[in-house]
Amino acid sequence: FDNQPLKGRRVVVTAGGTKEPIDPVRFLTNRSSGKMGYALAEAALAAGADVTLIAATKRDCSAAIHLVLAPSAKEMLKAVEEAMLDADAFIGAAAVSDFALEKPFDKKVKKTSSDSHLTLDLVQNPDILKTVGTQKKPGQVVIGFAAETNDLLQNAERKLKSKQADMIVANDVLAPSAGFDKDTNQVTLIQANQVPIEIGPKSKTAIAEDIIQQLVTILDGQ
Ligand code: C5P
Repeated sequence: FDNQPLKGRRVVVTAGGTKEPIDPVRFLTNRSSGKMGYALAEAALAAGADVTLIAATKRDCSAAIHLVLAPSAKEMLKAVEEAMLDADAFIGAAAVSDFALEKPFDKKVKKTSSDSHLTLDLVQNPDILKTVGTQKKPGQVVIGFAAETNDLLQNAERKLKSKQADMIVANDVLAPSAGFDKDTNQVTLIQANQVPIEIGPKSKTAIAEDIIQQLVTILDGQ
């Protein structure tokens, strides 16, 4: 980035697939690698921002990024709410589990000879993006992701409204160059009353730079 367009700005990014504990040794998770979120944190840093990356998945990143590990959705929400107190922008790239055990087992669950079934009772997790979107302060910009397998634009537009986000990065996870654990992605940027912007397919690093460039445009327009 030329001339550090995010200098003096604080950007909070979430990354990775959350891990929801079952017992002390097991958890429920998903296929997210965290690559897109880490690439966004690096791109925001390169643009001059002060970056807090709240990640459920540990990967290498620049030492200048404030990395906070938050494995479960509840831990992630707590870290995000604290970081958003003095942030200019939120980018929710994490694949947050929609469900978790209300109360994980204290001890490792054992097999028994009497019962071949185990039932786990799951309850809905808090929606981190929706919480940030509905609680955002004037001037704060909120960006979310929508991983879809069908009706990409309609679903993304619905999410833009329901989560009170300023932009949704819609991602067709079934496209050959897009989705979980790939190094490339193909996305559509959706904002209210604007023509959708199609990006890629190209590397997650290059996609992240375009998303950060769009964040700069939104922040400058306020
Ligand atoms: O509604 P859906 O989960 O498809 O929306 C995806 C977006 O919402 C992503 O930005 C994801 O990080 C965020 N999300 C969240 N908390 C949840 C579920 C999704 O922040 N519990």
